[in-house]
Amino acid sequence: MGLENMVIPAHVAVILDGNGRWAKKRGIPRAMGHKAGCETLETMVEAAARMGIGYFTVYGFSTENWKRSAEEVKALMQLFRYYMVRLLKVASENNVRVKMIGEKSRFAPDIIEGIDRLVEGTKDNTGMTFVIAVNYGGRDEIVRAARKLVKDYRENGEDVSTIDEKLFASYLDTDKIPDPDLLIRTSGELRLSNYLLWQLAYTELYITECLWPDFNQEELEKAIVAYNGRERRFGGRK
Ligand code: IPE
Ligand code: IPE
Ligand code: MG
Repeated sequence: MGLENMVIPAHVAVILDGNGRWAKKRGIPRAMGHKAGCETLETMVEAAARMGIGYFTVYGFSTENWKRSAEEVKALMQLFRYYMVRLLKVASENNVRVKMIGEKSRFAPDIIEGIDRLVEGTKDNTGMTFVIAVNYGGRDEIVRAARKLVKDYRENGEDVSTIDEKLFASYLDTDKIPDPDLLIRTSGELRLSNYLLWQLAYTELYITECLWPDFNQEELEKAIVAYNGRERRFGGRK
C-alpha cells in the first residue's frame, strides 16, 4: 500500500497495547511480549520519521502500571534500561529529537540519567520529535500543571482571570507540542486509559485489533489511510 496523495498527520499518538496478549498466545512469559514490543517501537520510530510524521507520541508506561506485579515492573525497568540506549542510536541516525512526558522522579537514578541523556543527546536534531510518555497519566499531568500554575500565581500575585486554555496548556508536559491529529490504539480496547486527556479533545481515534508486537509500517499506513477518510470538525460545521 502506498501513501500517494495522502495527508500525513502532523502528530500521531499511540497507545501501544497487547504485549501481554501477544506473549500469552505464544505461551511465553509476559516479559517476552514487552521485549518484542520494544523492538516494534524501535522500528516504528524509524518508520514514522521516514514517513514525514512531525510528532510521534507513544505511551510506554502509565502512572497506573506500577500496580502490576513486582516481577513485571522489574522486567519493564530492565527493558527501559536497554532500549533507551538503542533509542539514542536510532534517534541519532534518523535526526529524531526525543522528549519525555510524565513524572520521571519515580524512576531509579540510572533510568532518570538515561532519559536525560536521550533528551539532551538529541535536542538539536531537526527531524521528527519522538515523545515518550513514561510514568505518564493524563490526570497526574493536569494536577501537576495546576500546582505549578497556582504556585506561580501566588508568588507573583497574579489575577486568576488571566488564566485561559492557552496559558493552562503551557503548564502541561506537552508545552509547545501541537495536539495529536490521530490516536492509534492497538489490541482493540475502546478506552483512553488516562492518556493525553487534555490534548486528545479533537483527535481522530483509530483502534486496531493488531497486537503491538505485530504492528508495523503497513499497519501505520492503514491508520493514515483511515485518517484521510475522516472529516475533521473541531465542533464547527463544514
Ligand atoms: C502494553 O501491553 C505495554 C504496557 C502497558 C507497559 P500490556 O502489558 O498492557 O499488554 P496486555 O494488555 O496485557 O495484552
Ligand atoms: C495503557 O495500557 C498504558 C500503556 C500503554 C503504557 P494498559 O494496558 O495499562 O491499559 P488498561 O489497563 O488496559 O486500561
Ligand atoms: Mg494492556
